[in-house]
Amino acid sequence: MSGHEPASESNRVHIFDTTLRDGEQSPGISLNTQEKVEIAQQLARLGVDVIEAGFPITSPGDFEAVQEIARNVEGPVICGLARTHKADIDAAWGAIKDSPRPRIHTFISTSDIHIIHQLQTTREDVKGQAKAAVALARSYCDDVEFSPMDATRADVEFTAEVCAIAVEEGATVVNIPDTVGYTTPEEYRSYFAELYRLVPALRDVRLSVHCHDDLGLAVANSYAGVLAGARQVECAINGIGERAGNCSLEEIVMLLRTRSDVHGLDTGANSRELARTSRMVSRFTGYAVQPNKAIVGRNAFAHESGIHQDGVLKERTTYEIMDATEVGLESNQIVLGKHSGRHALRDALTELGFKVEGNALNQAFQRFKEIPTRRSTSRRSTSRRSSRMSSASALRATTSRGSRSRPRRGASRTRGLRSPCPRARSPRARRRATAPWTRSSARSRRPLARSASCASTPSPRSPRARTRSAR
Ligand code: KIV
Ligand code: ZN
Repeated sequence: MSGHEPASESNRVHIFDTTLRDGEQSPGISLNTQEKVEIAQQLARLGVDVIEAGFPITSPGDFEAVQEIARNVEGPVICGLARTHKADIDAAWGAIKDSPRPRIHTFISTSDIHIIHQLQTTREDVKGQAKAAVALARSYCDDVEFSPMDATRADVEFTAEVCAIAVEEGATVVNIPDTVGYTTPEEYRSYFAELYRLVPALRDVRLSVHCHDDLGLAVANSYAGVLAGARQVECAINGIGERAGNCSLEEIVMLLRTRSDVHGLDTGANSRELARTSRMVSRFTGYAVQPNKAIVGRNAFAHESGIHQDGVLKERTTYEIMDATEVGLESNQIVLGKHSGRHALRDALTELGFKVEGNALNQAFQRFKEIPTRRSTSRRSTSRRSSRMSSASALRATTSRGSRSRPRRGASRTRGLRSPCPRARSPRARRRATAPWTRSSARSRRPLARSASCASTPSPRSPRARTRSAR
């Protein structure tokens, strides 16, 4: 829990990770068994409560991966997904039964859109299938989760009827999926309130949220469901999943932790494993993390504007609501770019061993600020390099004792100053890097410590990178 008081059971929101099931359903992602087991082991270190390891009926590979996870990963509940068909439930049980904590998750749609067009059946039949599936799953396993798929577009009264049947048959968790990312926080909250009103027995089981991000509301909707009483959030690392993805695990974990002052809730996750888990999933899936992604994006704890840098260098909390180390980064970063200020430049120079004050600092700062402008006017038509690159060149020029020669494109740009980021030494990697000169703002930092920015920007498609572990 990294310095946080453990939440009491009623205030604890369980984290159900579906990176390996819904997350793997993202177009183009295909993980092999070894990669899945490694991710599952890392999820266990992260302290998730449940790992949805896969959908065993879908392929022999999926079955094998779920089975390996069930056999090799200790701590979290290991869950296998199944439609309401007997063959699915048998396969799910076959794959998870060796886990010390197995769970079968079975689902069927309750929206008329799905019942009529996809299942081509009737509401009565859906009720019968739900009943039989939960009963069969319970005959194998004490822990059974039921999901009325597309619930948020379904008639709430019909969904309530189906949920009541599932609870009667012994479901221990009832999940209310926003399958197509359609609901809004207010609507979802009311939906939960109505379900509780119609089915009081839902108070005896764990309610769960499963939100997709089609309208960018997956985290907000999940949070709304939690405020309405749900105590399990289904989510995926880096928010991967069908279409626009699922609720992002790192975002909901840090939202619950950072604002526990308003809701009094928390999870059991070890947030210091978030960055590492994000990098591992990004590498193995080939899905890069956008730079401005909350919590795990490489800019999530980076400051470039002079005002912000000045504030953070004086007192971190002026512009940070979380400490970078809480999510597993080494530190936050000060990025020297065209918006940077004198304070950050002086600090960077000091760290490099140059004590520059007063007039000398003013001059250095003036030159530092001139270079991006000069470069952008003289090279506007040809250069595509970012102004940050230009400013970084300015810093290098200044720190190599007054050499005014403009660094050439390519490898020689880093001459005279070891780049903080080893990746930035290859021309290809350098093109990818948006912040070539970043540094920690911590007073006690080591000289040019490897920047967290570097560490959080893997080259996800490189085969070498894919085989490397995040550990
Ligand atoms: O989005 C969804 O409804 C699902 C279910 C299987 C829970 O992924
Ligand atoms: Zn889903």
